[in-house]
Parts: sequence; C-alpha cells; structure tokens
Amino acid sequence: MSAALIVAAGRGTRAGTELPKQYVELDGKSILRRTVDVFLGLPEITRLTVVIAKGDAAAYRTALEGLTDKRLTNPVEGGDTRSASVRAGLEALAATSPAQVLIHDAARPFVSSETILGVLNALNVHDGAFAAIPIVDAIWRADGGFAISPLDRSVLWRAQTPQGFRFESILSAHRTFEGIAADDVEVARAAGHLVRIVEGSEANFKITTPADLARARAELALGDAGAPK
Ligand code: CTP
Ligand code: MG
Repeated sequence: MSAALIVAAGRGTRAGTELPKQYVELDGKSILRRTVDVFLGLPEITRLTVVIAKGDAAAYRTALEGLTDKRLTNPVEGGDTRSASVRAGLEALAATSPAQVLIHDAARPFVSSETILGVLNALNVHDGAFAAIPIVDAIWRADGGFAISPLDRSVLWRAQTPQGFRFESILSAHRTFEGIAADDVEVARAAGHLVRIVEGSEANFKITTPADLARARAELALGDAGAPK
C-alpha cells in the first residue's frame, strides 16, 4: 500500500493571488486538481489524502469537483506550518497504516509519473527517498552584498517533492521532531534515517511567485510543461 499525501493548506502569500495559489486555475483546471490527477493516474498509489486549511472546504470541493476516484479520502485539516500540515495528514493516514507514503506539495502540478515512480522504486531499498536536482550555477557565500567565498556545488542539491518514506518511520520521526522543518527529509534525517536522492526535473518546479504562475501558464500554452494532458 502506497499512500500519497498532498499538502495544500498554505496561504500562498508570495503568489499574491486572491485565492490561495493551489485553487487558482491554469488553463481551466486548478493547480490542486492537476497535482491530484498525476498521482491518481498511477495504479501504484492506493490512497490519496489532501491536507487543506480550515475554511477551505468549499474551495477544495470546487477544485476537485467531479472526481470520483475511490482512492481519494476526505480532506484533512492542516496547521500553521507545512510540517504541521504534514503531521496532521500522517496522523489521519495512520489508521489505514500504508507501507509507504509519498508527501508532495500541491504547488508542484507538473510532477511527472517518472519522478513519482523513481521515488517509489527507491523506497523498495531505502527508508526514504526524494526528488532533487543538481545545482548548475556557481554558488557564493556572501555578506552584505559582496561575494566572500565559493561553495562546492557538487555536494549541494535543490530539494523537490515527492519525498517518500516508510510510513511508520516518517510518522514516528514527525512525532518526535521539535521545531519547524523546511521539508520532510529534514524530519527524517533528524531521526537518523538514510534518505536517497532521486534525480527530479526542472519541470517539477514549485509555483511560488507571480512569475512562477506566469511561467506555468506560458509552458501550458506551449504544451511543453511536462504536464500530463
Ligand atoms: N503548506 C501546507 N500548510 C502550511 C504551509 C504550506 O500544507 N501551513 C503547503 C502549501 O499549500 C504548498 C506546500 O506546502 O503546497 C509548499 O509550501 P509553499 O510553496 O511555501 O506554499 P504556501 O505556504 O502556501 O506559500 P507562501 O509561503 O508563499 O505563503
Ligand atoms: Mg510557505
């Protein structure tokens, strides 16, 4: 059993849209719906839960209107931080004890099935795995707007989602983690788990700013965003 947990309880402050960005439509289909559709397109995913903010139930229903897939559960109420939202989702999934869980940002609608399956396959061998991309630019440590010293980019990766884990290990890691984590790899590492990097893709970018929304629309218009039809 492999569950997908889609976190969609953020406010999307940086995107500056009226509705939280996950409910914004791109070419007639909401970002959340696009993300959910990619995961439900895979028979390997046996259950899918979306974490939403308190008060967003109506927006959620509109976004997923007409979707009747039996694997989709009721939405779960998230928290004030991404890690609190993930924790709430994991607690809700605990009753069904899936073997594995893939945690994914609703704001990454262009994730490919290849990336999802790459992470899932790595979980056959490893406790955790996530999509990430190597850094191509030179990287500088800076101070006060001046370059100080170069960093070795060959040891640095840009984390994406999905981030997948054996369910019981990430649930207990979240239960013991203190503070706010940027992502779930941080939580897993704090509990001592080995987390394998799987190469992701530039197409799987997170829609964060107005420029990202414009990029998403432009790529969809060109038909080359890597998004499933
Ligand atoms: N998220 C969440 N619960 C939160 C915060 C974030 O479920 N309390 C989700 C977002 O909905 C998003 C993903 O985590 O799908 C990545 O977060 P981010 O891109 O930062 O989205 P927002 O927090 O909504 O945006 P911003 O930080 O600009 O307000
Ligand atoms: Mg945020």
